[in-house]
Amino acid sequence: MASKMQVLFLAFLSMTSSFIVCQANSGYGYGFGWGSGGGNNYNSLSPYFYDFSCPQANDIVVSVLENAISQDPRMAASLLRLHFHDCFVQGCDASILLDDSAAFVSEKRAKPNVNSLRGFTVIDIIKARLEEECPETVSCADILALVARGATVLSGGPGWEVPLGRRDSKAANMLLANATIPPPILTAQKLIASFKQQGLDEVDLVALSGAHTIGVARCTSFKARLYSQNGNSEADVSLEKAYLNELKSVCPSSGGDNNITPLDYASPRSFDNTYYKLILGGRGLLFTDQQLYSGNYATLAQLVKSYADDEGLFFDQFAKSMVKMGTISPLLGSNGEVRKNCRRAN
Ligand code: HEM
Repeated sequence: MASKMQVLFLAFLSMTSSFIVCQANSGYGYGFGWGSGGGNNYNSLSPYFYDFSCPQANDIVVSVLENAISQDPRMAASLLRLHFHDCFVQGCDASILLDDSAAFVSEKRAKPNVNSLRGFTVIDIIKARLEEECPETVSCADILALVARGATVLSGGPGWEVPLGRRDSKAANMLLANATIPPPILTAQKLIASFKQQGLDEVDLVALSGAHTIGVARCTSFKARLYSQNGNSEADVSLEKAYLNELKSVCPSSGGDNNITPLDYASPRSFDNTYYKLILGGRGLLFTDQQLYSGNYATLAQLVKSYADDEGLFFDQFAKSMVKMGTISPLLGSNGEVRKNCRRAN
């Protein structure tokens, strides 16, 4: 549950944006937009984008989030993940939110997403509230970015200024989602390559993986590690033995594929640095989590150690990397549209 401090902090972030824009607005061209649809000439994202057109946008997002997370604490994790799965497929354009249409198959059906992604109804509620208060103004892509920050802060993690002004795509791409969202079987080398394709480096990879400090995974996402990591009926040697046995009790060798277990069993609802501490002890849940400390990449291993030692360092970098991930190929200016309903193009 969100503490008063966390809510105040989110309110503070939104108030500082309003204050700074008043200063910035006295005669200088800062390039922030007015959030009023097409035909404008702004070409970059700005935290102040909705300061005039929908100053209450973040407050609406946070109040819906508080309610949703109080009813279902895992929802914070599910919503944070949506922004990642959006941004890695044709940029942060809310393509992930589109339902099937005559023109395309939705990304919701892609392998990493089907039977796994959650939180679409919460986004619908936020969008409906925003449409009531500021019609056709706040894009679904920006909602995902604000939601990712809100979910992080309400779980006890860091806040950051969210650059805004993304517009929404008119189409989704399931095949691209299958190709670009990293599956949990990638080696460190392939993880690095996957992130590099998106303009993200090794520091971003290790910091953003720290999102696995909250939420859960289904057995199907890590079962091979327990019973036959290399097709040889042996468990993954990088899994600590007691943890391996605990996981086997949750995930039998046959059946139970949809059983779930926390990614960070020590503090599954709290956004903290225990994820890295667990990895140091061979208790990363996914193969990809443990690959960050596989010994093959000294830089990754060093980062895992640093974040395990210093939560503040992790929080700082997580915030920076979230901003970086959130600016992957946004649709700007008159490209794309502001959807009225996040599930379909206008
Ligand atoms: C580094 C590459 C990554 C891989 C291979 C990966 C893979 C996965 C997998 C397999 C699951 C469990 C899905 C299931 O079993 O249904 C998961 C859950 C999750 N992922 Fe990742 N992930 C990665 C990076 C990220 C990033 C960058 C973020 C966010 C910034 C993120 C946020 C989450 C969250 C919060 C959950 C829990 C969701 C819930 O409980 O509903 N992941 N991830």
